[in-house]
This record gives sequence, C-alpha cells and structure tokens, in this order.
Amino acid sequence: MPPSEHVLIGHTDHDGPIATNERARVKAAAHYKGRLRRGQFVVIADTANHGLAFLGRIVAGPFYPDPNSILADVEIHGEINGSMAQGTDSRPTPGSPVFEMPAAAVSALIGLGGDMMLGHLAGHADIPVTLRGDSKEVLPRNVGIFGTVGSGKSNSVQVLVEEASQCGWAVVLLDLEGEYVDMDQPMAMEGLIPRLQHFGRQPRGLPDFQVYHPVSCSSSRSDSRPFALRLADFESSIIAELMQTNRAERNALLDCIDHFEQKAQASTLRTEADRLATLLDASPAAKVPYTLQMLRSRATERSARSTESMDFVGLGSKLQLLIHAGVFDQSGLRGLDMSELLRPGRVNVIDVSVANDTVKNLVTADLIRKAFAWKTCQPDGAPTLVVIEEAHSFMSREKVQTMQATLHMLRNVTRRGRKHWLSLAFVSQQPGHLPPEIFELCNTRLVHTLRSMHNLDALMATTSDVTKELWAHCPMLGTGEAILSTPQLRRSIVVSIRPAASRRRFVR
Ligand SMILES: Nc1ncnc2c1ncn2[C@@H]1O[C@H](COP(=O)(O)OP(=O)(O)O)[C@@H](O)[C@H]1O
Ligand SMILES: [Mg+2]
Repeated sequence: MPPSEHVLIGHTDHDGPIATNERARVKAAAHYKGRLRRGQFVVIADTANHGLAFLGRIVAGPFYPDPNSILADVEIHGEINGSMAQGTDSRPTPGSPVFEMPAAAVSALIGLGGDMMLGHLAGHADIPVTLRGDSKEVLPRNVGIFGTVGSGKSNSVQVLVEEASQCGWAVVLLDLEGEYVDMDQPMAMEGLIPRLQHFGRQPRGLPDFQVYHPVSCSSSRSDSRPFALRLADFESSIIAELMQTNRAERNALLDCIDHFEQKAQASTLRTEADRLATLLDASPAAKVPYTLQMLRSRATERSARSTESMDFVGLGSKLQLLIHAGVFDQSGLRGLDMSELLRPGRVNVIDVSVANDTVKNLVTADLIRKAFAWKTCQPDGAPTLVVIEEAHSFMSREKVQTMQATLHMLRNVTRRGRKHWLSLAFVSQQPGHLPPEIFELCNTRLVHTLRSMHNLDALMATTSDVTKELWAHCPMLGTGEAILSTPQLRRSIVVSIRPAASRRRFVR
C-alpha cells in the first residue's frame, strides 16, 4: 500500500506525560475537520523508519484544543505486513503522517467478502459488509440474532434469508407472529428504496416461496398448505418434555409407547434405516407404530392400573389436550415433506402464529429433527438454514432442567449439522433467558441493541471475539445496526444492515 495513494488526515503529535503503548495522538490542521472520525482505520507511515507502517483506529475525538487544530486518539493495532497486521513492540515517531485507510484495504483487513450482502460497515457507506454463503465458517457454524424489541432483528432475518436463498440455500422460517408470510412480495417502503439500491438490490419478492401451517391452526395466507404432525415421529422423551408431563405421567407414556413399539417390532423388523425412511415419508399412508388416538385409548384402558409412579389418568388428560389441538395424526393429511421444502433457493415459512405453545414447540422439534434426518440421508442436497424466531420461548434457561432431551437434540443437530450443511439460526429478544449452551453454539452472531445488563452479560460471557470497546457500543446502536462476529472475520465489527428487499407484515 503506497501511502501516496492514501488521503492524509494529520500527523502524530508529541507524547504527553500520560502516553501509553497502545495509543498515539494525531494532530491535524483545522480545515481537516471531517476527516478525523471515530472508528476510522488509519495507516501511520513512520518518519524515522522507512518501510515501517502502523495500523491504527481512531478511538477518541475529534477534540478542538484551539481554533487552528484538531486532535484525535488512535489505538495502535500493530505493524502492517501486506494486508495483515501483526503485533508490534514499538510506537510511531512524532510527526509521522497519518493516512485514512482505503476501503478495499479495510475490507481485506477485516476479512470481508462473499456473495451475501448484509449491509455496510457502520459509518462507512463505501465499505460493504459481505459474507460467504459457500463457506462452512459462516452459516453452518449456526447463527444467533439478538436484540431488544424494535432493534431490527426481523429485518436482519429477512436479509439473511434473501441472501442465503439467493446463494442456493433452502430456508425454513418458523414464523411465530405471521410476519414473514408476504416475503414473495416486494417491499413497499418508498423511503428505503434508495438505501436498498445503494447495495445493488431492488425491491423484490422471493421467487420460490411457500407458506405452511399446522392443520387446525389456519394462516392468513389463503394459499398456505396445511400439514399434520405424527406423534410417532418424535422421540418419546421429547414428547414427554414438550407435553410437560410429570414423572408418573412420563412413565405411563413410555409404557404405552413401548407397547406399540414392541408390536411393530414383531410385525416388521425395523432397522434404523427403516425408521429414518418412515420419519421422512410425508404421505398419510406412512406406516407408523402408533397414533395419538391409539395412545389415548391405551392410556384409558390402563387407567385402572395407575400407581403412584405410573399415572395413566394424568397422561390421558394431557393426551386429550393434544387431541384438542387437532394437529396430530389427521388421516389423509401430509406431514412436512423435506423433499419438497429443502430445495435449492426455496424459502418456506411455517406460520404458527395461531398455534398454542405446545404445538409451536412440537412443530419446531419436528422440523429440526426431520431437516437433520433429511440432510444426513441426502449429502448432495441443498445447504439448509432453519430460522427459529423467539428461540427463548422454545428453549429457556428456566425450563432447561426439564428439557434435557430437547436440548440434547438441539446440541446434536447444531454440532453435527455443520458437516451436513445444516445451519440453525436462533433469534431472540431475551438472550439472557436462553440456556448458555444455545448461544455457545451460535458462532456467527448479529447483536442489535440490548439495553438490559442481564441480556448483555449473557452474551459477553460467551463471545470472546468482541472487544470491550465494541460491547460498550451495544446499548447505543441505532435501529438496524448490529455487532457482527463470525469465524470468517478477523475482527468483530458494527454493521448497518441493509433494508430487506421483500415485504414484511406489520412494519410501521
Ligand atoms: N436495517 C434497517 N434499515 C431500515 N429500517 C430498518 C432496519 N432494521 C429495522 N428497520 C425498521 O425498524 C423497525 C423495527 O425493526 P424490526 O426488524 O421489526 O425489529 P425487531 O424484530 O428487533 O423487533 C421496522 O419498522 C423496520 O422496518
Ligand atoms: Mg421481530
């Protein structure tokens, strides 16, 4: 980088009595006002040592000590070697010229690049923030999108979904509020169109898009397709947890399931491959060992045999609640068909906005399990992104003790999913309520404004690659701004996320 091509912003000043290793002071003439901005990366060409250049970043100022000059503090990050910075045991000599680092050099330094256009570096409209959709270091490392209400999470979800699908990812979006069901339409916020165009994007609906809803729950989209759940598709321990059974009810449940499993085992020898094939067979004719109704009948038959440790009566009433939900084992209705959903570029929204919490959680568990099963069977299938909105309501710190089986499944899928190009994205306004295990699994993170210390602490404790200085920014981020950290980047940054190109309901 020959400094002659760089814009000069000032010169290093003589050190004061409280000079430190990491800081240098820059002094500029008053007419340079506007060039010294916090966050700006700079290159300092040492006057005393030809060829020695320091990388720095303006962290304080601009200050105006007198009418003729401007001061700013630069944090010294290291010595420049090619496009990288390495550690240094020195500091710039006073009087060394300080240059603005060109956009391309900043991008290279940070490690930006790829097909997914997320936005631009905050304060630098000329530095696009792009990530690689074809890298195992980004989406397959699982994604966390956090921030308080109104901070821009849903817009970020849309951007991520638009970009991932354009890169050939199949996407399934679990929509808790029915806000994503119009993403096949272009956005219609006139005021944001110039900003969208700045990123080379136009208002545009998603080309391959379908909405689904659990039968009996309806969707506001008239062309949404209903699907049914099959109780036998779940691991028994997960049904027990998600139905919130107590110990005695759980024992009764396992007893009933065992009864039918043994029968099925006797009639057809079921190997692991058979089980997987049944799990992924979405047709209503798929051979399942039991249905919700069969379990309910069995519980009723056995009710007289209830003991202190086996409560068939309690189980019966919990199963009855599930029957009421009307979502399980509906004859003639298909389940979620992974071969239909997980095609390259396809975006599927599962509208669970009118489902109760148990159904929402069971749909989530069903989706994750089947997507994982499909990806292990189809190694050449499309890379797949599953987005879970309001993740804290599915899996919370408070519930973690009683949801070990569900957490185990999540852990298994997030860890092993990477190998199979399956990525989970957790979205939450309450990261402080998520079990720490969950966000430890999210290596690619977008953290929007968070003001409660409870939520911030939880993130700070598990994100080592974000500096203290950057965290201090977090409560002050504007709408649509977020701290981005991901294994692709050499350092964490603040991004101004681009507006979504597709439409969302309920946006003001
Ligand atoms: N990157 C952005 N650019 C422009 N407007 C944005 C951006 N992010 C969010 N907004 C607007 O801010 C409001 C709140 O954003 P939203 O994504 O709904 O927040 P959250 O999901 O965190 O509650 C919406 O009106 C949205 O259109
Ligand atoms: Mg939202």
